[in-house]
Amino acid sequence: MATLLGGLATSHIPAIGNALAKGWQQEPYWKPFFDGFPPIHRWLNQVRPEVVVVFYNDHGLNFFLDKMPTFAVGAAAEYHNADEGWGIPTLPPLAGCPDLSWQIIRHLVACEFDVVTCQEMLVDHACTLPLKLFWPEYEVAPVQIVPIDINTVQFPLPTARRVYKLGQAVGEAIQRWDSDKRVLVMATGGLSHQLEGERAGFINKAFDQQFLESMVSNPEWATQFSDLELVERAGTQGVELLMWLAMRAALTRGGAGVRKVHSNYHIPISNTATGVMALECLA
Ligand code: DHB
Ligand code: FE
Repeated sequence: MATLLGGLATSHIPAIGNALAKGWQQEPYWKPFFDGFPPIHRWLNQVRPEVVVVFYNDHGLNFFLDKMPTFAVGAAAEYHNADEGWGIPTLPPLAGCPDLSWQIIRHLVACEFDVVTCQEMLVDHACTLPLKLFWPEYEVAPVQIVPIDINTVQFPLPTARRVYKLGQAVGEAIQRWDSDKRVLVMATGGLSHQLEGERAGFINKAFDQQFLESMVSNPEWATQFSDLELVERAGTQGVELLMWLAMRAALTRGGAGVRKVHSNYHIPISNTATGVMALECLA
């Protein structure tokens, strides 16, 4: 059976694409953000994942308001990036893993999740930039991916409880996958931020820190909140932290718990409170 190694999570912000392209990692504005990554790079070099399941939220590149799935699973052999209008470089295509995609899709449907299956799927900054951040040495991250999109764009959003159950089912599917591959689960989004309206610029450090702590010691903590309660606490785009919840839930199926490899929190990059974390599944 496949091995579930652990989980990664990071904020995704288009401006990061520009900073990477310009080599600004050591600039005073960017350094406290990029300094969160080298300990995780060292861990990735040790555990050497081959396939990464990426929980991310599309921002209007692949799905728009006219057709908005709650959960969509990629089942393509290759995922292309395209111009989103942020002025950042378009990145080369990422390799898919259709075998794991269909394993996850079959298991989710058997668990009564009615997912959209996507044999073609454009991926945006939320999928491409985290892979660049975690594998900066490579033109294209040396892994195959299975992108899973969770709607955080158009209300109603899936409840945190539902997202947690989705993550658990994805974790089960990975652990039952008849393969010798080494698999990681990744989340991208958050932490608190709001890009528009009267509260534009809103950040909630106390909430973010409680959420980060819950990732390690109390993974179900955030499932107590409704979508609007999450908006109130984390901002209209801070609800992207639902991806972190799905990732963490996927790691609960091993039964032996997790060890925090490293985490970092830095305010702000652009309008966002940034977080990064790596968790290792205990054998
Ligand atoms: C920003 C944050 C996001 O999560 C995003 O998708 C786009 C922009 C920002 O802070 O600029
Ligand atoms: Fe976003």
